[in-house]
Amino acid sequence: MGASLSVPEPQDISTEDRFNVFRGLPLSLSSLAQFIKDGHIKRILVAAGAGISVAAGIPDFRTPGTGLYDNLQNYDLPTPESVFTLDYFRDHPQPFCTLANELWPGGFKPTTTHHFLRLLELRGVLLRVFTQNIDGLERLAGVSEELLVEAHGSFADAHCIECAGQHCVLDWHEQIQAGSIPRCGCTLVIPPPTSPPDEEQVKILRQELSSIVQQKAKAWAVTNWQMLTDLGMKEVRLKEKIAEAEQQTAAFPALLAEWEAGPKDKLCDGFIKPDIVFFGEGLPARFSYLAPKDGGRADLLIVLGTSLSVMPFAGLLGRVPALCPRLLINRQAVGLHDQESPPMFFGNIGLRLTDPQNYRDVHAAMDCDDGVRELCGHLGWTEELNALERAYQLPASGSRPEVPHRKRRQHKLKAVRLRFSHQRFTMP
Ligand code: OAD
Repeated sequence: MGASLSVPEPQDISTEDRFNVFRGLPLSLSSLAQFIKDGHIKRILVAAGAGISVAAGIPDFRTPGTGLYDNLQNYDLPTPESVFTLDYFRDHPQPFCTLANELWPGGFKPTTTHHFLRLLELRGVLLRVFTQNIDGLERLAGVSEELLVEAHGSFADAHCIECAGQHCVLDWHEQIQAGSIPRCGCTLVIPPPTSPPDEEQVKILRQELSSIVQQKAKAWAVTNWQMLTDLGMKEVRLKEKIAEAEQQTAAFPALLAEWEAGPKDKLCDGFIKPDIVFFGEGLPARFSYLAPKDGGRADLLIVLGTSLSVMPFAGLLGRVPALCPRLLINRQAVGLHDQESPPMFFGNIGLRLTDPQNYRDVHAAMDCDDGVRELCGHLGWTEELNALERAYQLPASGSRPEVPHRKRRQHKLKAVRLRFSHQRFTMP
């Protein structure tokens, strides 16, 4: 997938502007810490992935051997990603339901990195955390909801994939645990058949057709081939419309009688899934709205524990201004601007970690927890980070996960009345 975003090439930015990004200091964690301390960096945008939760005991997706996609053999999937693919789920809901039960939030503790995000907030320098994770650990660490964008959704709510009816996610989980696959109990209205075009409309079509036939005769007389071609095409389309109208008129009485004799509504019975964004669905509107808005205001982007393999999330790299420094804390170098192999082509928004013209990108090639500890060390924040970790209490075992699932009652009982010819549900 190509990135549609673009930033100026280094040579198109003045030497002075490029120099000023790090003010002549080395491109390093300690320089960035210095800029945060002296107030030069006030708005930090974070882009996080599965790597930040690995230390909590939740595997990432793509690390060979330990990543989730290397450990789905028992699910008998065509591809590992199928488990998060809408079309596959529609026909085979069981693998996702089993996996969702395993990944269900609760029981995992936030990592040092999650506490660091909360510390950024407490220090007043957190612009927003964009996370791809569905484990809810940012919230558990105390990051405020308004500073969080759960770009790949969460377990906070659930909807039917057919009629979009809302369902209680806690009930969904209970049914999964009991071994059943939850289906939608919404009632869908079966509308009467669409009325055929009335006589007046068909009469107008016939008049248009006879006018075309007359114009064609004139065009023949002057052998205007272009006009003959255009009129010929119009004639074909009009004849098709008239034939369709006649068919609809003929079929309508039987269809209406059938509808009148039959039921007026039906059970939806579609599969329900938590609001985790699947391949084939759009990201939440909050992501689309805030990514450009926050990107434009950021004065540091920190990318944490992600392979940057999934668009549009990975495009956050290109949302920040060309003079905004970018810090990657990840075991590997990812998102490189000269990356030419699939699945991603970052073009010039990619990180220029190995490029001699790099003037703003820093890679801390280490575990996230070590990277944020090192940064906090430079900032003099180590004690505060430790205090947050010490103060954290895991919810008592057996209690509900603290991820704010929506309340049980209202939407369970709410029968959504929709047209029979309902549309497939996609995320906003
Ligand atoms: P990936 O598994 O693709 O990437 C995790 C990255 O974190 C890899 O580069 C690892 O090397 C690195 N890593 C692992 N543990 C680390 C640690 N302790 N410290 C530092 N780095 C570490 O996970 P994501 O990039 O989050 O989407 O995956 C993106 C999306 O792909 C997911 O949200 C999911 C998946 O398909 C959906 O389900 C829609």
